[in-house]
This record gives sequence, structure tokens and C-alpha cells, in this order.
Amino acid sequence: MSDFNSRLAGYYDELRSLYLGLYNNDEQAFDYFLSMLGRCESRRSSSLRAWDEKRCRTNGRSLWYKDNKRFGMLAYVDSFADTLEGVRSHLSYISELKVNYLHLMPLLKSPRGKSDGGYAVSDFRTVDERFGTMEDLASLSGDCHDRGISLCLDFVMNHTSEDHEWARRARAGEKEYQDRYFFYDDWDEPSHLEASLPEVFPTTAPGNFTWCEGAGKVVMTTFYPYQWDLNYHNPVVFNDMTENMLFLCNHGVDIVRLDATPYIWKTPGTNCRNLPEVHTLVRMMRIACEIVAPGTLLLGEVVMEPKEVVPYFGTLERPECHLLYNVTTMASTWHTVATKDTRLLADQLGKVFSLPKDYVFLNYLRCHDDIGWGLDYDFLAQFGIDEVAHKRFLNDFFRGYVYGSTSRGELYNDDPRLGDARLCGTSASLCGIEAAEYENDENKLWTGIALDIMLHAFLLTLSGIPVLYSGDEIGQLNDYSYRDDPEKAADSRYLHRGKLSWGAVANRKKRSSREGAIYGAIRRLEKYRSSRKVFVNDADTWIVPADCGYGDHSVLGIGRYYDGEKLLAFFNFSPDTKYVHTQESEEYTSFEGAASHVDSFCLSGYGFAWYYKKYD
Ligand code: GLC
Repeated sequence: MSDFNSRLAGYYDELRSLYLGLYNNDEQAFDYFLSMLGRCESRRSSSLRAWDEKRCRTNGRSLWYKDNKRFGMLAYVDSFADTLEGVRSHLSYISELKVNYLHLMPLLKSPRGKSDGGYAVSDFRTVDERFGTMEDLASLSGDCHDRGISLCLDFVMNHTSEDHEWARRARAGEKEYQDRYFFYDDWDEPSHLEASLPEVFPTTAPGNFTWCEGAGKVVMTTFYPYQWDLNYHNPVVFNDMTENMLFLCNHGVDIVRLDATPYIWKTPGTNCRNLPEVHTLVRMMRIACEIVAPGTLLLGEVVMEPKEVVPYFGTLERPECHLLYNVTTMASTWHTVATKDTRLLADQLGKVFSLPKDYVFLNYLRCHDDIGWGLDYDFLAQFGIDEVAHKRFLNDFFRGYVYGSTSRGELYNDDPRLGDARLCGTSASLCGIEAAEYENDENKLWTGIALDIMLHAFLLTLSGIPVLYSGDEIGQLNDYSYRDDPEKAADSRYLHRGKLSWGAVANRKKRSSREGAIYGAIRRLEKYRSSRKVFVNDADTWIVPADCGYGDHSVLGIGRYYDGEKLLAFFNFSPDTKYVHTQESEEYTSFEGAASHVDSFCLSGYGFAWYYKKYD
């Protein structure tokens, strides 16, 4: 039996029952799906097959991404290096940072001015000419693989651009193509459906439906009006989109980021998010990858409340995504920066620590999107914290409107009816570095740098894959030029999507500069992490009580243990020096290499400590 057939045989019964269950026993569509898988598999190059095999061999299962050596970065091709060729020429910088997971933001064909940063795809098989060609992508991936770097790309599966061929044909009246979207003859049904649908972009793109002039009908558009929702009730859509995904895999994409995963199935009368059918679709996509491109990982973009996120890992017997964003931890971290109270973060981490170790999170401080304040408000309620008031406080804090705050952020999609604005800004600007440089205040500058470094140390302490947002490694500041660009001005997320300054990157070895201080610290942290197996995903993790006086909760302690190695990590979220007491009596070695007793120690403002111990 060929490898393909034996892999297919292993999944056949499950795949068949999921597919026919979802698509009303449409045997013909299922046969097409299987033949499509075979076609994609036969087109997989020998080098990618070898790459699959190498990955699947590591530890007998695909466990390579659960080690302590993964280190990620996400970047826009144009902001980072203009083109794919440019990215290729800067791979040595990526390798110098020890980044071995590179997420390039959407780079497929997308109409200028109506692209949502590339998330409105008009052709899933063509690289946007601004960045290069499909061949450039494949050769970049080849070079990445030679350096041990995995390439991650978005697969924008919830919608197409209104310029995609299917959309154009639908607009021209072809029923077959209208059936790939959600079309309505008039506003009656959409108005009715709207009642149960939340809005993703309440300010920049209110509502979930758009009048399509060409077709003389209404079309569903959950995101921007030019992003038409695909109708996965139609098996043709699922078949063709899965083929598009596998096409990317066959061009060397190792990690597929399933954009806007929770939205892909719609049922009238519901909020059309996280419906059970979404999990069936994701599971079938996972199976498709396992059969055709088994080295591939699926990263689910599930920016939802915690109870909705974890189910996207699937079950151990029927896994869905390999990786998910640790979104609540990210938001809780920034909450902790503002409140200097670690209790919510400790509680949130406690929940993550109790999950099965097969689950792998992607940890991050900032990404290309806004920070949404999806916190555990039930937990905060015990301290009398009210959701709407707290969101207002956080947004005020991170715009520098609160006494003592030096943050420089901007609001995103402020919805005054719900008091639900989100927030934009680079890590460095949110940490106060921008304000300090503007005011030429050295003290403030080093306080901001300390906070920025402490947050990165925290990031690298967590189990999972730490992913930097390009520019954060040198503390890049907000870029206000988006306000002068009519195509971007309405979308404040561009505040933190500025061009990487290679001039600033050149300062990275100067310890006395902001760039050098942050870059050097991140390098040291990563080196430490990748050389100690206590950081593997399988390690035990727990919260270490860190007492710094009655009513003071500004220091967070995290413990890790794996195979005779132990780490105690402490993070001071306050700008003041803290004297910390713990119940730990053993002697450890500090990050700086000194023998240390951890029962009582001093942590400088926004300082962190890593204490390590190896048992014989
Ligand atoms: C995801 C992306 C975001 C985009 C949206 C619509 O949430 O991260 O940038 O606007 O999908 O595709």
C-alpha cells in the first residue's frame, strides 16, 4: 500500500462519517474530496515529503514543536523587507535571533485599498505581485527549511475578497457561485438574522450584511463589506477551499493559520460563532493535512473567551488544531501591567497549567491585531471590578490618560453603546518607551525598557511557542504615518504595523541603546530557554506564592519542573523595588549565574528573576 493509501485508510471511516454527516450523505461530493486529496498528495514534492518524514519521525510522533527550541516571529512582508526576495535576503537576521518559526502576514493576491491588510484574498493560488510570485514563496520556504525555519502563512477561509473570481461570477448573477456565499433577495432575512449577530468591526464596518449592487441582492459580510462570507453548507466550498489550503502546503507552508476559525459555519438564529459544525470542518482539515502533508501544523485563530478556545484543540483521540493563541493570557498580562495586581493573571495561568500537556499554545505579547479586553470578569467581580468601567480604565491607562501611565496607545473600534473599545500600539510604546524618548527622560526610558524586558521574560517562561511581533525585538515604537494614508487612516491597527527600521536594527549590538538593551536581553533569554529542558511543553507548571507584604500582589511567581530540572520565575509588575518572600528553602542559580537563596530576595522595579536548579 502506498503511504497515501495507508494514511487514508487510517482515517477513512472517521472522515467518511464526518463528511457524510455534515453534507447530507452527498457521496459524490465525498468521492470528489478523496480524489482531490489524492491529486494534492501526488503533487507534493520529494523535498517536502522528506521534510514531512523528518518531522513525523521526531520522537515517533509529530512532537518537534513541543520542545524548548521553538522561537517565533510574525512579520508583514512589506514592513519587514518589501518583498519575499527581501525576506529571503534577511533570513540571516532571523537566524541570528534564533527564530525558527516565521509567520508572514497575508501575502496572497488582494485588491489594494480593499485588502484588510491582505485578509481579503482575491486569488488563493497567487502571491500578490507587490511581494513576488508563488515560485518566490516556494524558494523562500526551501531556504527557510535549510536553516531549520518553519514557515507559517494565513489561510483566510471564512471569506473571499469581493474581487475573487467566485465573487465576480456571483455578482454577475451565476447561481452556482452565489451558492458559495450567503445571498438574500432583500433585507427581510438579513435584518432578522442581524438581531442575533454580534459585530466584529462595529465602527469601521458595522453590521453583517452588505448590498451587492451588481447582483441586486444582499450578501453576508461579517468583517469588512468587501469580505464576503463563504458558505460551508455547500460541500463544493469546503472541497475547493481545502484544496486551496493543501496547495499552500505544497508550496512549502508548514504552519497553516486558520484565520477567523470560529466563524466558518453559520446557522440562522445563532451568533454564528463556535458552532459544533466548525469543529467538524476543522477536524476534517486536520485529517486532510495528516493524509496529504503530515508535517503540517494547524494554528487556529480563535480570539474568543477561554471556554471557547480550548475545544479547538479537539480531543486527544480526535485532535483539531495543533496550536492555539494564548489570547486570554495575553490580555490578562496587559491588564496586570495596568493594575499591578497579578491575581487575575495567576488565576488565568492556573487554568492553562491544568490543561493536558498535549495542548500547545502560541504565546505572544503583541500581534498585528488590537488587544481585546476579553478578561475573566467573573473573577474580577469579587474585587468589585465592573466590566465596562474596567475596559474604560484599561483603555485610558494605555493611552496615557491615567496618572502615572506613560503608555501611548490608540483605541480601535470604539463601540460607545457597549463601552467595548479595543486597543492598539506596539509593546514598546505601551511600555512607556515612546513617551520617555519624546520627553528625553532617561529614567523613564530605562523603566520602560525594564518593563518591556520583564514582559518578554514572562513570555519565554510560559510553555508553548513564544512568538515575537517583528520590531519588538528592538523595541520599535508606534508609527503614526498611517493617519496620512487614506487606505489605512480608519484602521488604527496600522499604528503597530509600521515599517521595520533597519537603521534602528543596526543599533542592536549597542547595549546602551534602547534597541541593544531589548535585543540583547531577548537573545540571552532565548539562549537560556533553548538550552534547558525545563522549558519544554511537557514540563509541570504551577503558581509560586510570592509574598511582598500585606495586600501587595505585584509579584507573580511561576514554577516549572521537568526531568530533574526546576525553575522558579518571578516577575515584578510594579515600578517599585519589592522584597519577596517565598516558602522555597533550596539553593538555586540565578539567571546571572549567582548562587541564590530564594526564600527572600529583592526584585527591582519591573524586574524579573529566573532561578534554576538541577537535581542529580
Ligand atoms: C483575523 C485577522 C484580522 C482580520 C480578520 C478578518 O481576525 O487577524 O487581522 O481583520 O481576521 O480576516
